[in-house]
Amino acid sequence: MSKFVYLGGQKGGTTKTTTAHLLCLGAILRGEPAAYVLTDPHRQIKSEGRPYAVLDGREPQKLAQIITASHSTQNGWLIVDGGGNRPALDAKLTEQADLCILPFRPSEEDLDALALDMQALPQAVAWPSAWPTNRMAMQSAQYFIDGLEKAFPLRVITAPIFFVNSAAELLSASLDSPSTPVRNAARRAFDIMTACYTMNVKHPTEHQDAAVA
Ligand SMILES: Nc1ncnc2c1ncn2[C@@H]1O[C@H](COP(=O)(O)OP(=O)(O)OP(=O)(O)O)[C@@H](O)[C@H]1O
Ligand SMILES: [Mg+2]
Repeated sequence: MSKFVYLGGQKGGTTKTTTAHLLCLGAILRGEPAAYVLTDPHRQIKSEGRPYAVLDGREPQKLAQIITASHSTQNGWLIVDGGGNRPALDAKLTEQADLCILPFRPSEEDLDALALDMQALPQAVAWPSAWPTNRMAMQSAQYFIDGLEKAFPLRVITAPIFFVNSAAELLSASLDSPSTPVRNAARRAFDIMTACYTMNVKHPTEHQDAAVA
């Protein structure tokens, strides 16, 4: 059975798509098969030159087929990209996924939208993304992580995905030879995600208990 990770959240531009591609690339670089699944009907499929599979789940029936087929896959990762402002899809896929991640950038707007999603999706975890690497900016952004952890204990991945200048490569039409910074970011993101995945699968109720406590 594939390991099923869903990247969701209601706000646009929180890095769902980029992070989904980053995780697929990271999986491949670590020697594990991966498939990216597009669900947003307003977006084009980008499959060229990618070392991982790209699947079209824009129609609900097709998406259901992809998820069902992944149950009989021996190994690897199914990384599903949400988006398109569909709360019902977020709720449904969060139920079905082994791990639901809500990426957010360091802004008040992202935090406000994220807080609502965290309440609506008690199994989801938040992941800081496109995070600053400059010391001053990092210190002020830490305020967002600390506040969120207080509000949602055990539901925040505290190791961020850092801002990468060449992140746009991941969304380009083809991804023939990813740059070194993108490859490094992909490996790091994949390692952080797999650690979170392992914890989540071992203690699936922990997050919910924490939310109630
Ligand atoms: N780690 C990163 N470092 C730098 N920029 C990033 C990073 N991740 C994403 N971005 C940039 O942030 C912008 C938004 O990213 P993306 O399209 O992945 O967000 P999204 O949540 O999928 O948006 P939408 O809701 O519109 O589908 C893009 O310009 C992308 O290049
Ligand atoms: Mg997107």
